[in-house]
Amino acid sequence: ALERTLSIIKPDAVAKNVIGEIYTRFEKAGLKIVASKMKHLSRKEAEGFYAVHRERPFFNALVEFMISGPVVIQALEGDNAVLKHRDLMGATDPKKAEKGTIRADFADSIDANAVHGSDSLENAAVEIAYFFAATELCPR
Ligand code: CMP
Repeated sequence: ALERTLSIIKPDAVAKNVIGEIYTRFEKAGLKIVASKMKHLSRKEAEGFYAVHRERPFFNALVEFMISGPVVIQALEGDNAVLKHRDLMGATDPKKAEKGTIRADFADSIDANAVHGSDSLENAAVEIAYFFAATELCPR
């Protein structure tokens, strides 16, 4: 089914100057960018976005990392977009990520892991709405 998912290129990947290489992977897989922005997240924005992880031991490190530099946030649209995007990213821990995935190729650690992607269609809608107003989404 036609779906949308939220994708974030994290500060480590922005610092490595691989925004375009990552966008190319989305496009080659048939995912269309229907909204896009670069942003240096505030602490409040990062904490709110990752609120489901608030009680996890890695929460503070995650927030610190996510505000350490600008990120690039996009909504991706395509057939089966949520799972397709997760397959492109590979496992959360780059040591476990399959060869040829974004994390295997660009991530250094489970914290600095290059990209974020929604884990379900339900969360995708919540996460897209967290960063984009309805008028900022451009169906195409
Ligand atoms: P992300 O998909 O952005 O969602 C939460 C992030 O927390 C995850 O990617 C990782 O970068 C980070 N993280 C750090 N430690 C862990 C862990 N043990 N399990 C899951 N996520 C972790």
